[in-house]
Formats: sequence, C-alpha cells, structure tokens
Amino acid sequence: MLVTTREILNQAQNSGYAVGAFNVSNMEQVQAVVAAAENEKAAVIIQASESALKYAGLEMLSSIVICAAQKSPVPIALHLDHGTAFEMVEACIKSGWTSVMIDASAYDFELNIEKTKKVVEIAHRNNISVEAELGRIVGTEDQISVKEGSELFTDPDEAAEFVERTGVDSLAIAIGTAHGKYKGEPKLDFERLKLIKNCVEVPLVLHGASGVSSSDLQQAIKLGINKINIDTDLRQAFADGCREAFAKNQQEYDIRKICGCARKKMFEVVSEKIRLFSLK
Ligand code: G3H
Ligand code: 13P
Ligand code: ZN
Repeated sequence: MLVTTREILNQAQNSGYAVGAFNVSNMEQVQAVVAAAENEKAAVIIQASESALKYAGLEMLSSIVICAAQKSPVPIALHLDHGTAFEMVEACIKSGWTSVMIDASAYDFELNIEKTKKVVEIAHRNNISVEAELGRIVGTEDQISVKEGSELFTDPDEAAEFVERTGVDSLAIAIGTAHGKYKGEPKLDFERLKLIKNCVEVPLVLHGASGVSSSDLQQAIKLGINKINIDTDLRQAFADGCREAFAKNQQEYDIRKICGCARKKMFEVVSEKIRLFSLK
C-alpha cells in the first residue's frame, strides 16, 4: 500500500527501529526493493533523486513505483530525495508522491528555513510529508556538490529551532556520514546525535549510509535515527549482478538474464539492510 513517510517513520520512532530508504532509477530496482520488503514484511521508502528522475522520467518512475506499492501488502512511501527545485516538489506532488525532501542546506540558516517552509506549506496542504536537511552532508548530493572536508555538522540548538519554525516531518542531519564511496573509515559523531535527539522531536534521517559499518548503523538507530538512506551499496550490487551475468556468458544478450541477475543481487542487499535496521 502507498503511504506517507510520516506514517512509516512515526511507527519506527515509537518502536525504536529505522526504515530503509532505498534509491532507485529503474524498474528492476523498484522490484528488488518491493520484493525484499514483502519478504521481510517491512515498511520501506522508495526514493529517487532529481537526476534519477531526469534519467527515468518523472511519470514513468512514478507509475512504476505507485503500481508496485498499490499492489503490495506492505507500507511503501514514494519520496523525492534531495529536492532542490520548488517546481520539482510541485511536480512530484501532482504525480502522486507521498513524501518530498527539500534540500536547501546549501543556503544559510534563514534561507534554508524560508525555502523549507514554502515546501512544507504546499506539501502539508496535500497531505505529503516533508524531510529537510540542516548541516552539510559531504559528497555529491545530486546537483549539490559539497567539498570533502568542508562539512558542517548539524548544530543541536539550530536543529530544534529549524524544526519548530519550519514544521518539517523529519530532519536529515550531518554527523559524519558522506554520500558515495568512503575513502577512509567514516567516523560518526554519536555525542552530537544524542544532543540533537534530546531537543528534536521529529524522526531523524541518516544520509550516506552505504559503507558505514553495521555496528555504527545500529548504534545510530539506538540513539534515534529512524530513516536510513542507501544508494551506493545498491548501485554496487546491481552492477555486480550485471558483471556476474557476463561472467557466466560473456556473449549474453538476453537483457532479462542480465537485469534479472542484477535485481537478485540488489534484492539480497536490500533484505540484509532491512534486517539490520529492524534491530531484531
Ligand atoms: O544523495 C545522493 C543520492 O545518492 C543521489 O545520487 O544524484 O547520482 O542520483 P544521484
Ligand atoms: P549513499 O549513496 O552513500 O548510500 O547515500 C545515499 C543517500 O544519502 C541518498 O540521499
Ligand atoms: Zn542523501
């Protein structure tokens, strides 16, 4: 069933686990996430970035996810990841998405609030949940390129004020994770997470979770993270699956065998993440 992230995340917050938010850009990836969620009997968030939408087409990707979600017995939210353009948020709302992220973290505090509030107003009028970002998560976030090493971690007091003034439903925080592949070992600032959790009531979101150790992810969940974004690990699994198909037969041209193998690999990784995030 298609639901909002608010429903899914409030449940996660009340019970103390995290929901996987998995990035997709094609049909096989959507099928892999939905099959894993159904197999684990878990709620999931399927999300797409602006560049994924540019690749697949908004209507096309919306239709695939909405069709899969409506047929599914598990709760599934369709979420815009790192939305930077107000027009994109509007287009997603019109196309039946149940959740959007407005990422105005590249702007200063007041402008981030202003841009986020504008999205909250239109989204809440349409019963759609909103995630925003405060602090800067390093790596490449769609069109936002944040220089490595110049990260700005989330300030707990600012986080409380930001949530209060914008009315967002969830907040993405910068505590040491980064998008894409890590060059070194990521070091999460758990003390900062505790402080943020103490003064922010809405569910907290961890981006850049690919490549973070299972124990660190579970620790982050125990300290209050309720949504975990995974993209790179899924791309890796999908690409590995394609390579595996070619390793079996270098001349393979039946794309169903190639994409089918990729889908299976991704299903396995999504299943593992769901189990990890459930803390069971
Ligand atoms: O947060 C970033 C996501 O991994 C999106 O990456 O813009 O290449 O789709 P992308
Ligand atoms: P990774 O690609 O590092 O998993 O980050 C995903 C993400 O944060 C999507 O918003
Ligand atoms: Zn992200």
